[in-house]
Amino acid sequence: MNATEQLELKVKPNAGVQLRDGFTGGLGVVLATLGSAVGLGNIWKFPYLTGANGGAAFLIVYLLSTLLVGLPVMISEHMLGREARSEAVHAFLKLSPNKKIPWWLVGASGVLAAFMIMAFYTEVAGWVFAYIFKALGGGIFTTDPAVTEAAFVNLISNPWLSLGIQWVVLAAIGLIILQGVAKGIEKTAKRVMPVLFGLLLIVVVRSLTLDGAAAGLNFLFMPDFSKLTGAAILTAMGLAFFKLSIGMGTMITYGSYYGSEQNIPVNAARVMLGDLLVSLLAGLAIFPAVFAYGVEPDAGPSLLFITIPTVFASMPFGHFFMVVFFLLTSLAAVGAMLSLVEVPVAFLTEKFTWSRKTATLVVVFGLAVTGSLAALSNSVLADVKLLGFTFFDLFDYFSQNVLLPVGGLFIALFVGWVFGWKKVEQALTNRGALKNTRLVRLFFLVTRFVTPVLVLLVLLNGFGVFGK
Ligand code: PFF
Repeated sequence: MNATEQLELKVKPNAGVQLRDGFTGGLGVVLATLGSAVGLGNIWKFPYLTGANGGAAFLIVYLLSTLLVGLPVMISEHMLGREARSEAVHAFLKLSPNKKIPWWLVGASGVLAAFMIMAFYTEVAGWVFAYIFKALGGGIFTTDPAVTEAAFVNLISNPWLSLGIQWVVLAAIGLIILQGVAKGIEKTAKRVMPVLFGLLLIVVVRSLTLDGAAAGLNFLFMPDFSKLTGAAILTAMGLAFFKLSIGMGTMITYGSYYGSEQNIPVNAARVMLGDLLVSLLAGLAIFPAVFAYGVEPDAGPSLLFITIPTVFASMPFGHFFMVVFFLLTSLAAVGAMLSLVEVPVAFLTEKFTWSRKTATLVVVFGLAVTGSLAALSNSVLADVKLLGFTFFDLFDYFSQNVLLPVGGLFIALFVGWVFGWKKVEQALTNRGALKNTRLVRLFFLVTRFVTPVLVLLVLLNGFGVFGK
């Protein structure tokens, strides 16, 4: 810091904050944060998990998880990040009163989770990008699932192609991250999110106006609780974590870029609702069409790549809608990947005072290495299994169903029992500037008592501790 900056800091206590890159405020903050939440989770995972777990009943558990677990953890993370002005590891180091308890491990597990998620996420994003071209070329424009399946298997079982598309994705994301928080992440989100939304609406209208669309609506909104197992409940909660990018410090890092005037609870509620809207729209784009053409919705992860193309191929103007669909899915993936890369980049720049450039290069190379384990899971490494999972499935399962919920549990415990009411009140009322004390108290009570108990019960139940 030079002499002028030091002087500035003395005169304006907040001036130091400006020295750090951050979001510029207003709509940009919401869109950047929403950009992290919205992603393949909404358009790939949400539909296939809802499809495979019986529809509406799963959706209800997912909604409850979002409200009682997702929102409180998101508010907690934004608050911790802004209070500490640090990414997750350093945020816990700064805010924890008892340095002997290693709270920073929560942040460290987040860095690990970022690597695991990016490993398979970049691969799926790569498939989606490849599908834009396949859709344009017409190669997957067929109603014969045997043909779309062959096309998909060809793509994922080609080792060089799998690695190549992953590297292209990584390079593109790295280039945006290099531009910084305001000029890279926020600017991209401001451009991408409205387009994504518009394209999604186009596909929804198409799907809803097909003959036989009502069966899809029934599936999505009429619950049948008999399908709901303990494992499915854990999946729904894990999905809520994954969807909202919480439980791994991503939102702590983003919170550290928030201005001190941001209304954190309102902001988080907007992001949660916005994300939910995108998931529901994705459901409305997919299920009515799937049911209209009598296709089964329970294909699992390949729903998007094998089932969906045949559905588009069956409908009038389907070629156009198929291109639009894969385009919007790839756009959705961008903001999420930016936030996933930002987690380790922010950690390295803070820990080793590296430049953003060095940190980004190191992270992108590291991701190319771990990512290759996932990218090659359908070819060279198909027979390498840990605990019965390929690397791809292990990274996916372990991050979503273990690391994120456990991380979220500790974040809620930290806020409810360590950080405490006085500091929470100060932080979330913006030091008394906002008249929202009752709301903040409700948030605090839920975070202290309800969220941790729910997460713990769902985890134990999901792993069969209470019996099958
Ligand atoms: N929320 C993203 C999605 O639903 O696609 C995925 C994600 C992004 C998870 C960032 C975790 C994260 F930190």
